[in-house]
Amino acid sequence: MIRLDYTNMMSPPIEGGITPEEWRDIEGRFGAAHAGVEKLHADGVLGFLDLPADQALHGQITSFVRQAKERDAAHRLTDVVVLGIGGSALGPIALRTALRPPQWNLLSDEARGGEPRLHVLDNVDPANITSLLERLDLKRALFVVISKSGGTAETMAQYLVVRGRLDAALGRKGARQQLVFVTDPLKGALRSIARAEGIPALDIPPNVGGRFSVLTAVGLLPAALIGIDTAALLAGAGRMRARCTSARATENIAGAFAALQYLADTRHHRPIQVLMPYSDALRDMADWFVQLWAESLGKHREPGDAGIGPTPLGALGATDQHSKVQLFMEGPPDKTVTFIGVEQGIPAVEIPRLHEDIPELAYLGGHKLGELLDIERRATAGALARRGRPNMTLSLERVDAAHVGELMMLLEIATAYAGQLYGVNAYDQPGVELGKQFTYAMLGRADAEQARREWNLLPKSDPARVI
Ligand code: PA5
Repeated sequence: MIRLDYTNMMSPPIEGGITPEEWRDIEGRFGAAHAGVEKLHADGVLGFLDLPADQALHGQITSFVRQAKERDAAHRLTDVVVLGIGGSALGPIALRTALRPPQWNLLSDEARGGEPRLHVLDNVDPANITSLLERLDLKRALFVVISKSGGTAETMAQYLVVRGRLDAALGRKGARQQLVFVTDPLKGALRSIARAEGIPALDIPPNVGGRFSVLTAVGLLPAALIGIDTAALLAGAGRMRARCTSARATENIAGAFAALQYLADTRHHRPIQVLMPYSDALRDMADWFVQLWAESLGKHREPGDAGIGPTPLGALGATDQHSKVQLFMEGPPDKTVTFIGVEQGIPAVEIPRLHEDIPELAYLGGHKLGELLDIERRATAGALARRGRPNMTLSLERVDAAHVGELMMLLEIATAYAGQLYGVNAYDQPGVELGKQFTYAMLGRADAEQARREWNLLPKSDPARVI
């Protein structure tokens, strides 16, 4: 079970923290936010809340994975490659890092228990893509093309490059054996290609948006292909869903998280919200959360207003104690820090008692590395509190599939509540549209005439201002 300790967000003990009056007063507003989320769910908008119980969707994934694992020796999978971006890439990355041993892709076949490596091409940088494609045995690689819309430029470009290589190396029929799509059940270019060519395609329910889709085939298919227990992930997520039914923030862990961050931002000018796991396994969870929080909440409430929303930032303990923590301690007091601590299941690595005559080393001997990491987390939280910098801590009993499912569902539900508190639509991203249109215009896409005109009106680079 995950716990949230928000003592250090409050005043007292933190001067400038959330006051008891503010915390009491938010209950009414949170009640309305909770009701708003329940209504959206009842209206069929928030499909992510139903995913833990969706046996049919999970069945589609497990049956595909079963067949993929039954391939003959010449085609047995050594590599799974996800093509996707944003919400179609960050979830698979976070799951691999959290739930497979460290350096998964560098381990031998034996150390991976015969499970394939997992690569995620979350960009269109040619150096990365070329280097990966050159290393792969294409007959033993499965390319999982993930796109809810089925038409995102970056993912389509990745697909075209991969498809060109596969067709050339294996022929069109052979190429199809190495592909699976994850996309909308009815719409989009990927779905059309799948239908026309008989390429298997798993569904992302229409009412589940990209950044809320990790518990669909978007996250679960790559996870299951590399041996992660997806049933446990869903069970953990379901438990968290069941914990978030109260209309009182003090009794609803996702509600408390959202309400605290909202108050810190809107009442105490702390718009920068850091998520800082003290666990290498959870480092990519911070990136996943950053996208979820940023793309959902950074919005105009009314057309033409100045824009609102917090700015999420990822950090890793203890590594970033030697990088960002100086800023968190003494920089502008515009941040909250949410630590993630892990209580159990940590390998016991004892620090040997060597150099006992050297004080800078002697005090470490006899302690465990995991103990040092956790003490550093507590020390940093205490130091921030001492300087009046609000922080809170999410504690996971252990990093396993059930707890990771719980954590992801917690942060997704918190995002939905925060959307209501801020009064924005947390499920669209109109702000990315103009950049996309300009890209289409420059690449000569036929339907980008208007964007081309707008692009041509923009001020051009002034040579006098280029050094
Ligand atoms: O959260 C979102 O909706 C976005 O970040 C998308 O995941 C991202 O733009 C990729 O979109 P798609 O899955 O349609 O290719």
